[in-house]
Amino acid sequence: MPKPERFVFLCTNQRPPGHPRGSCGQKGSREVVAMFDKLFQEKDLYGRIRLVPTGCLGPCMEGPVVAVYPDDVWYRELTPEDVEEIVNQHLIEGSPVERLLLTEQDWD
Ligand code: FES
Repeated sequence: MPKPERFVFLCTNQRPPGHPRGSCGQKGSREVVAMFDKLFQEKDLYGRIRLVPTGCLGPCMEGPVVAVYPDDVWYRELTPEDVEEIVNQHLIEGSPVERLLLTEQDWD
């Protein structure tokens, strides 16, 4: 298998209800993963880009969170409706979607 051009890490961590940090799983990350998977299949991207569901990536309050590497581009508060824009504009055309970016301040 050739080395992928990019890796898309998607937090699917699920914490119990009432946990103070919340979790991406509680905020719908599985639906976001499902939409990435659907579009990767439709657009035949799996040979070029790896989709990697993960545990907690850190900025839980901003979830669902996705990190694209080696670009080091992070996205926050994603919904399934946001995914096609990321796939088309960033993963295919190479331009991150500014309106959805996680900033350095979001880590505080
Ligand atoms: S639970 Fe998703 S970043 Fe922590």
